[in-house]
Amino acid sequence: MVVAAVLGAAGGIGQPLSLLVKQNPAIKELRLFDVVPVVKGVAADVSHVDTPAITTGYVKDEDGLKHALKGADIVIIPAGVPRKPGMTRDDLFNINAGIVRDLAQGIAENCPKAFVLIISNPVNSTVPIAAEVFKAAGTFDPKRLFGVTTLDVVRASTMSAQAIGKPNDASQYTIPVVGGHSGVTILPLLSQSKPALPESLFSDSEKLKALVNRIQFGGDEVVQAKAGGGSATLSMAYAGYKFAEQLIAAAFEGKKGVVAPSYVYVADNKDVQKEIGQDLAFFSVPVELGPNGAEKLHPLGQLSSYEKELLQACLGELPGSITKGVNFIQQPK
Ligand code: NAD
Ligand code: LMR
Repeated sequence: MVVAAVLGAAGGIGQPLSLLVKQNPAIKELRLFDVVPVVKGVAADVSHVDTPAITTGYVKDEDGLKHALKGADIVIIPAGVPRKPGMTRDDLFNINAGIVRDLAQGIAENCPKAFVLIISNPVNSTVPIAAEVFKAAGTFDPKRLFGVTTLDVVRASTMSAQAIGKPNDASQYTIPVVGGHSGVTILPLLSQSKPALPESLFSDSEKLKALVNRIQFGGDEVVQAKAGGGSATLSMAYAGYKFAEQLIAAAFEGKKGVVAPSYVYVADNKDVQKEIGQDLAFFSVPVELGPNGAEKLHPLGQLSSYEKELLQACLGELPGSITKGVNFIQQPK
């Protein structure tokens, strides 16, 4: 049985995500941590759900991080500030970088072998930050650190189904989304959809571009609709849990053949470097999950000429975001 911790559990994502995690029968203990005291109430609330996980809440000022993390097997991090209209994810860096750094330090000290799932934005930089903290602590295991990009995958299915006039069939389309998690770094591989999307979509270049753009900027759609009230929370909780559930099944329940895109460490994977044509430390690729986490990174596969162009746009932005995260730890100001 698995011990799970959610850090930032009182927030817009944290609350519904905690509820979803509580429903997983493999979880023995669910520990909810936040800097705001209401997290104890959230834990009390969630604890009444009639599933096995014993649920407890922890706040920062009672040595709560240590108690929440001690011996945890899986740590999910939606802590940090969300966007408002007009902001980019990178605009969150100044606040969220420090939050992720401190939480990663807590993980290194209290549960160095945990699987760590980072939701806090900008994911393209916060995952490298966590990796640098773990490296400095001597606990870095590239197979156990994941940037959660599942919302992009979920959006790709939903928005593609809508674009082809089959809005009720979203769950039938599995579409790999690779790259990073921000604007043009999000690279949906529509040509690899299973089942295939209709040829008419690919022959209508305006329609195809509009669909790709909608997937890449799906986050903005929610930020604008919430008009200052935050960014995606409910669909993110769904997506975050979807990835966590896949990882739990593969890592702790022996499920085979589980493959899901995630933003992972690719620096020592020559095949990925060759495919993207650059030495990048992090990139989202389809990851085969297993007892050790990211057991195998799958190739991106054949890209259409349009997807090759999108890859170049992604590579124009992603390396800078990675370096920014790395420098935040290696060269603190
Ligand atoms: P929110 O403000 O509703 O909740 C964030 C929570 O984090 C709050 O409860 C806050 O008290 C807590 N928090 C702040 N500092 C903390 C710390 N040091 N330790 C623990 N908890 C802390 O925000 P939200 O809407 O839940 O979004 C959270 C983050 O997730 C944002 O950075 C947002 O951009 C990101 N996000 C990522 C994705 C993705 O696809 N990866 C999708 C949606 C949102
Ligand atoms: C999203 O994709 O919805 C999240 O990254 C939140 C955001 O800022 O758009």
